[in-house]
Amino acid sequence: MIVGIDKIAFFTSPYYIDMTDLANARGEDPNKYLIGIGQQKQSVIPPTQDVVTLAANAADEILDEADKQAIDMVIFGTESGIDQSKSAAIYVQSLLGIGKSARSFEIKQACYGATAGIQMAFDHVTQHPKSKVLVLAADIARYGLNTPGEVTQGGGAVAMLITAQPDILALDGQSAFYSDDIMDFWRPAYRREALVDGHYSTDVYIDFFNRTWNQYQAQTNRHLDDFKAIAFHLPFTKMGLKALRSVVHDHPSAVGLLEQFEFSRQYNALVGNLYTGSLYLSLLSLLANSDDLKPGDRIGLFSYGSGAQGEFYSGKIIADLQSQKLAEPVNHLLNNRIKLTISEYEKMYQQGLPMNGRDYEFDITKDHNRFVLAGRKANRRL
Ligand code: CAA
Repeated sequence: MIVGIDKIAFFTSPYYIDMTDLANARGEDPNKYLIGIGQQKQSVIPPTQDVVTLAANAADEILDEADKQAIDMVIFGTESGIDQSKSAAIYVQSLLGIGKSARSFEIKQACYGATAGIQMAFDHVTQHPKSKVLVLAADIARYGLNTPGEVTQGGGAVAMLITAQPDILALDGQSAFYSDDIMDFWRPAYRREALVDGHYSTDVYIDFFNRTWNQYQAQTNRHLDDFKAIAFHLPFTKMGLKALRSVVHDHPSAVGLLEQFEFSRQYNALVGNLYTGSLYLSLLSLLANSDDLKPGDRIGLFSYGSGAQGEFYSGKIIADLQSQKLAEPVNHLLNNRIKLTISEYEKMYQQGLPMNGRDYEFDITKDHNRFVLAGRKANRRL
């Protein structure tokens, strides 16, 4: 039986900043951000969107009534959750009208959570082929104004439907994983911004990629030339390029894999980091933009969550992949955003529900999305 990704959608804020503007404001050479980091634009998330509304807006694009009745599991991967107890999955299940006979829960392991969700969904659908599982990956990446991590902020959501006989990617069911107790990036419950040891985190990422890739090769006897492309978790797009370069060297497949990598980073360079969703935005970018994907082509996926968990797994392109259909909504969303000045962004960055729990109402007249966070009353989200 074939199990994999049947539908995929992406959602982000209608606001962005340009990385040249940010570089100029921070006294950096724009080429450091554009080339050295590999980012062109960055989504800025308004206070009227949180991970629940981002994910609901993404999933709303792809689910029909039949899906909503068939979904018996909703898995939400996030590291910017809105409650220490209640999962974001339950909110989304309710907002979208998904049937109540479902298991709904949240998974946390930094940027890795949605990958754990996909593996769990794969096992569940393999055992129950009529089931459909909704996997959500949504985050708002915040490092703070005037920090080295600022250029790697961003945010958004990816929603994926995992089914039998999928329309997009058939998962191979083979993966290699590795974890270790590492303090490279973390966010204690009392903070809105992440703490990070940035250069160390890039070293650990590359090390975990090499370990899981080598383990995958040993397990499957597959090698670089068995892959059309490898999609990476992209906290910033240069990161994936560094990891890919660390294994391709002068291998005959290097040129092809490096070419495909350019397609896989197109959307991420315009959005920034969305933590749990970054790998899946990169996959979507590859599927929507590559001019050379054929049925049966194998795609590798490297997932990394600081702290740290790495996983390398793979899947194959399905016969009638419709790239144009995947590209249209993303291009529409990204081409119709509003550019903020750096001072407008700095103001928006400071907004958000007060941390002391008091009632609060946002002006929602400017947010035209279907799902909007209107404020808080009696400790309940509106
Ligand atoms: N033209 C072209 N390139 C230039 C340049 C110029 N004028 N000036 C500098 N560069 C290059 C540098 O050579 C460097 O390239 P290499 O890494 O290839 O050597 C690159 O620009 C970045 O320069 P620095 O290393 O000096 O940048 P920095 O010290 O300001 O910090 C960072 C970069 C560590 C990535 C920082 O942005 C950060 O901490 N980001 C957050 C952490 C992060 O994303 N880590 C990734 C792995 S962890 C993870 O994956 C989980 C997650 O999602 C967070």
